[in-house]
Amino acid sequence: MDLKLRPSFFFSSFILIFLLNSFDSGSAASPKCISTEREALLTFKQSLTDLSGRLSSWSGQDCCNWTGVLCDARTGHVVNIDLRNPSQAVNSDEYKRGCLRGKINQSLTRLKFLSYLDLSSNDFNGLVIPEFIGHIVTLRYLNLSSSSFSGEVPASLGSLSKLEFLDLYAESFSDSGPFALRASDLKWLPSSLTYLNMGYVNLSGAGETWLQDFTRLTKLKELHLFNCEIKNLPPSLSSSANLKLLEVLDLSENSLSSPIPNWLFDLTSLRKLFLRWDFLQGSIPSGFKNLKLLETLDLSNNLGLTGEVPPVLGELPQLKYLDLSANELNSQINGFLDAFSKNKYNSLVFLDLSSNKMAGTLPESLGALRNLQILDLSSNSFTGSIPSSIGNMLSLKKLDLSFNAMNGNIPETLGKLAELVDLDLMANTWEGVLLKSHFANLRSLKSLRLTTEPNRSLVFKVPSTWVPPFKLELINIENCRIGPKFPMWLQVQTELNSVTLRNTGIADAIPHTWFSNIASDVTYLILANNRIKGTLPQSLAFPKLNTVDLSSNSFQGPFPLWTTNASELRLYENNFSGPLPLNINVLMPRMEKLYLFHNSFTGPIPPSLCEVSGLQILSLRNNRFSGSFPNCWHRSFMLYGIDVSENSLSGEIPASLGALPSLSVLLLNQNALQGRIPDTLQNCSGLTNIDLGGNKLSGKVPSWLSKLSSLFMLRLQSNSLDGQIPDTLCSVPNLHILDLSGNKVSGPVPKCISNLTAIARGTTNFEVFQNLVFVVTRARKYQEIVNSINLSGNNLSGEIPEEILDLSYLRILNLSRNSMAGRIPGGFRNLVGWRRLIYRGTCCLVPFLRAWQRYLLCRS
Ligand SMILES: *[C@@H]1O[C@H](CO)[C@@H](O)[C@H](O)[C@H]1NC(C)=O
Ligand SMILES: *[C@@H]1O[C@H](CO)[C@@H](O)[C@H](O)[C@H]1NC(C)=O
Ligand SMILES: *[C@@H]1O[C@H](CO)[C@@H](O)[C@H](O)[C@H]1NC(C)=O
Ligand SMILES: *[C@@H]1O[C@H](CO)[C@@H](O)[C@H](O)[C@H]1NC(C)=O
Ligand SMILES: *[C@@H]1O[C@H](CO)[C@@H](O)[C@H](O)[C@H]1NC(C)=O
Ligand SMILES: *[C@@H]1O[C@H](CO)[C@@H](O)[C@H](O)[C@H]1NC(C)=O
Ligand SMILES: *[C@@H]1O[C@H](CO)[C@@H](O)[C@H](O)[C@H]1NC(C)=O
Ligand SMILES: *[C@@H]1O[C@H](CO)[C@@H](O)[C@H](O)[C@H]1NC(C)=O
Ligand SMILES: *[C@@H]1O[C@H](CO)[C@@H](O)[C@H](O)[C@H]1NC(C)=O
Ligand SMILES: *[C@@H]1O[C@H](CO)[C@@H](O)[C@H](O)[C@H]1NC(C)=O
Ligand SMILES: *[C@@H]1O[C@H](CO)[C@@H](O)[C@H](O)[C@H]1NC(C)=O
Repeated sequence: MDLKLRPSFFFSSFILIFLLNSFDSGSAASPKCISTEREALLTFKQSLTDLSGRLSSWSGQDCCNWTGVLCDARTGHVVNIDLRNPSQAVNSDEYKRGCLRGKINQSLTRLKFLSYLDLSSNDFNGLVIPEFIGHIVTLRYLNLSSSSFSGEVPASLGSLSKLEFLDLYAESFSDSGPFALRASDLKWLPSSLTYLNMGYVNLSGAGETWLQDFTRLTKLKELHLFNCEIKNLPPSLSSSANLKLLEVLDLSENSLSSPIPNWLFDLTSLRKLFLRWDFLQGSIPSGFKNLKLLETLDLSNNLGLTGEVPPVLGELPQLKYLDLSANELNSQINGFLDAFSKNKYNSLVFLDLSSNKMAGTLPESLGALRNLQILDLSSNSFTGSIPSSIGNMLSLKKLDLSFNAMNGNIPETLGKLAELVDLDLMANTWEGVLLKSHFANLRSLKSLRLTTEPNRSLVFKVPSTWVPPFKLELINIENCRIGPKFPMWLQVQTELNSVTLRNTGIADAIPHTWFSNIASDVTYLILANNRIKGTLPQSLAFPKLNTVDLSSNSFQGPFPLWTTNASELRLYENNFSGPLPLNINVLMPRMEKLYLFHNSFTGPIPPSLCEVSGLQILSLRNNRFSGSFPNCWHRSFMLYGIDVSENSLSGEIPASLGALPSLSVLLLNQNALQGRIPDTLQNCSGLTNIDLGGNKLSGKVPSWLSKLSSLFMLRLQSNSLDGQIPDTLCSVPNLHILDLSGNKVSGPVPKCISNLTAIARGTTNFEVFQNLVFVVTRARKYQEIVNSINLSGNNLSGEIPEEILDLSYLRILNLSRNSMAGRIPGGFRNLVGWRRLIYRGTCCLVPFLRAWQRYLLCRS
């Protein structure tokens, strides 16, 4: 966002001097309004639409006292018009109301002494910038930024020979947009300019020489060309020295894909250089040593800058802000730091080298960055431990070393950083112990992230009564032991708004007071993979909660009756018991993902879940739910996965499931459901996985399955289905897993079986399928999925159809325990990749089968 930092202090001082000048006549009496100018202003007002009435003072005689109008103290002429939107919170209602709309009336040209015109942050709804603005030749300041003008910038502005400040920044916040300004010629730019902002103006039509056109502007101090669709940065620039006053240059977000050009180093007045979000390539030239006044250098997000951080950058006396993040810098940091440690000015306060490919260890010279406030070295490949000189960086507010390959102990000197607010040591391979002294002076710390790999030993060894000097707002500790007691230092953290304590060895009960204390502010509450026991406090309100994950612990007791708008609740793999609240829709109206599997919940599944309209995942596997599955689904348009397998549900499969257009995973297996499979399920055309096995379902295998064109897995095993295998089953184009075993299906295996094209051609990406299921079950249960057909334990008759040989990618075929007869098709011998054929139909075939089975088993 700081790209949009436009005004600089020399500009502010200009306004100040300007205002002082206007009033310096010393006369206390206000200037008299000149009536022709008053008329001109009124006409101008009439053409505008002013929803918020901020021009309501524009009436009566004394136009010099109207809002936004300023007259010269001596002559009474209008010299300033400032109609900038009083709100700068773009997209807020206040901003939108504050926008002036309508037209700009030519009457403005009658203000013969107007030198300052600010119409910025309004909404002219695509109006072309009027040509006649170029006739107000007295203008020194013109600000039309973010006012939704469009079309070509008029070359008439070139007539403004006194113009010093021109702001045409064109990012539009209009609801009726998008609007875009363009300039296909820049030769008109008045040479009087000291400040020019053409951000978001499309300059792609300005030709190869666009940059050359700016070298005429010899007074220019600030040039902002952010996001101007400029493609080329010329390697050389004649008369670049003309820009000798240029202090600020912003060419960010322009897809410039060249190396950094050398002419930049002729701009010796540069204080701020922004070249971020381009595609600059090559190394960072040491020519930067010429820019002795450079304070800010932002080359971030070019993705392609390689090589090292040049040591000369460490020598620049004024450099305060250096951002080289998101590039391909691939060397060590030592050269830069060594140079810096000899830099007696020591100005650097901001250093971001994150998301590069830098490696090596961090040297002790790091400590030389004594004035540094922000240090971000995350997402590189740094190794080794943190140098103990870190304790010298007493100005540090943010330290981010996350996502590196750092290891070893964390030095105790870290505890000296009294200004440190944000400490991020995530995703490294730390080991060792953390003592009280590691945190001794961290009075300002608000955010602590510390994670290592599960197989490392990183342990908090602090006195059980230790009260740390900090009050954290965010804590994220993973794979680091802070238990088994729920530590005191954590209990006193009552201002937390984000808590992640995963695999921290806590085996204690949760202090209910702590829980109640953080309830009001907490957004993320993740305590997964510990051994936390005991009950949860009931009846709490969590107004800001988004995600709760208490999975894989030893919690017990009833479901918490929390009032929350959280979207995700994970209580799985605990021993919660008792019923779910019948009014769960009132307590948790915004629930999207409810994971309660592997607990001891009892009672019915509350029908009020049908009223939770945003529900996406209902995962209740392996509990003791009883009664029927609710039959009231009518508004859950997002419900994607239902897993209520391994419970004691009875009754029928609800027909209203057919009203769930997004349903993809439906796992109702291992219950006591009975009756027919409802025909309405054919409405759920996105179904990918159906498991209704291990119930008491009766009736025929549905004939409409061919409508489920995404169906990947169909498991109806261990029910009482009868009738024949319908021919339509053959035309389920994506079926890879078919299990009808343990039913009463009779008749032949249909010849059309070869139409199961997914098994015949082996087309599907199993990983996608696994992920679909994993989202719902969180279990890698279906990890070993292979193309398989299991028809075992039915009453099938007839021969194995030859056509089955076309299913080249079938890995398991189980036809055992049927009444089939005849011979095994000879072609089986030629199939490759088969793992098992289980066929124990007729005695006479057994010898064949044995030989063949062994053969296949050996091959796979
Ligand atoms: C300007 O107008 C305000 C009311 O809008 C009034 O209070 C003030 O006296 C006026 N000032 C002059 C100098 O007329
Ligand atoms: C300016 O206002 C006058 C008087 O209301 C009107 O006749 C004229 O069309 C307006 N011009 C523009 C360009 O809006
Ligand atoms: C123009 O106005 C915008 C606000 O609308 C402001 O942010 C910007 O600094 C102004 N430009 C100049 C040169 O003053
Ligand atoms: C910018 O202008 C060029 C031609 O001048 C045009 O091809 C391009 O589409 C424009 N970009 C946008 C985003 O409108
Ligand atoms: C720890 O586990 C990671 C993978 O999670 C493995 O790469 C590493 O070698 C292991 N380290 C040790 C010390 O066991
Ligand atoms: C949930 O959101 C609604 C509407 O935004 C609000 O009225 C209600 O108080 C919120 N509930 C909680 C527990 O924060
Ligand atoms: C789980 O809770 C139930 C009911 O409270 C209890 O009977 C059972 O022993 C508990 N199981 C475990 C493993 O603690
Ligand atoms: C299933 O879709 C049909 C139309 O295709 C519709 O008439 C019927 O009401 C739907 N059933 C359910 C349960 O939504
Ligand atoms: C099987 O596929 C063939 C050719 O694609 C088609 O003619 C036949 O109707 C299909 N049979 C069934 C039962 O879908
Ligand atoms: C097929 O079904 C039978 C009976 O339900 C079962 O025993 C067997 O494990 C199933 N799977 C395979 C791969 O045969
Ligand atoms: C098996 O199917 C045959 C017909 O193919 C039928 O006569 C017989 O009754 C069936 N057996 C059972 C147990 O359903």
